[in-house]
Amino acid sequence: MKLLYKIEGLSFSYSSDKEIFQNTFLKLDFETITLLSGKNGSGKTTLCRLLSGLEKKFQGCILLENKNLSKIPVNIIANKVVYLKQESLANVVAANPDEDLAIWQHKFRLNNNTFEKRRANALEYFNIYNFKDKPIWELSSGQIKRIGLSALLLNDEKYWILDEPFGSLDDKSVELLLHILDTRKKRMKGCLLITHQFQECKSITDRCLQIENKNIIEK
Ligand SMILES: Nc1ncnc2c1ncn2[C@@H]1O[C@H](COP(=O)(O)OP(=O)(O)OP(=O)(O)O)[C@@H](O)[C@H]1O
Ligand SMILES: [Mg+2]
Repeated sequence: MKLLYKIEGLSFSYSSDKEIFQNTFLKLDFETITLLSGKNGSGKTTLCRLLSGLEKKFQGCILLENKNLSKIPVNIIANKVVYLKQESLANVVAANPDEDLAIWQHKFRLNNNTFEKRRANALEYFNIYNFKDKPIWELSSGQIKRIGLSALLLNDEKYWILDEPFGSLDDKSVELLLHILDTRKKRMKGCLLITHQFQECKSITDRCLQIENKNIIEK
């Protein structure tokens, strides 16, 4: 097993009156597909933000590949881990789908001789290619979600943190994403998958966690 994250004695709150995590411990392996659930407001998105280095003011320790996460610059974390946010629009950085993926390719130096082809393949996989030049503001919520998912395909060597990736997706897109996750499972590429869709994800899940009473427990 390839240990990716180790959390020790994590406590976190946004404000003094409500603690989200209290003395929490957790290990996440790179190769494992870990499903995380919990009630609305229990702290699932907060955990994603902590693991991605977006929330700095926590107590305890978060190690990424045995190094103190709070000392690693966010761009270096992003070279190892990709975080798909819960809100579709929060994952989009450009005015149209094609430009968006081009920016990710540039940002993560994913450019090579085949970069246009790779981009086209990623857009095609989630059926966005036909409107790749359409302004984002003319797309539906599910279509925008699929832009973020296409960008993930360019980052398939990294660990994925997926915050409710099935939200807004139609059945066909759910099926496509499950197929990707199944392929990754076989390639020993893991992810932290936040979802309430236990049944659909049963066959691709290696481990189930739940946030309960400010702690993360095995389910
Ligand atoms: N930026 C913020 N500032 C203050 N409080 C916040 C902030 N973000 C989230 N919270 C609060 O922290 C708690 C955990 O929120 P979080 O978004 O992590 O929950 P969640 O488990 O992802 O919920 P959901 O299932 O609705 O997505 C909630 O009570 C929320 O109101
Ligand atoms: Mg959330």
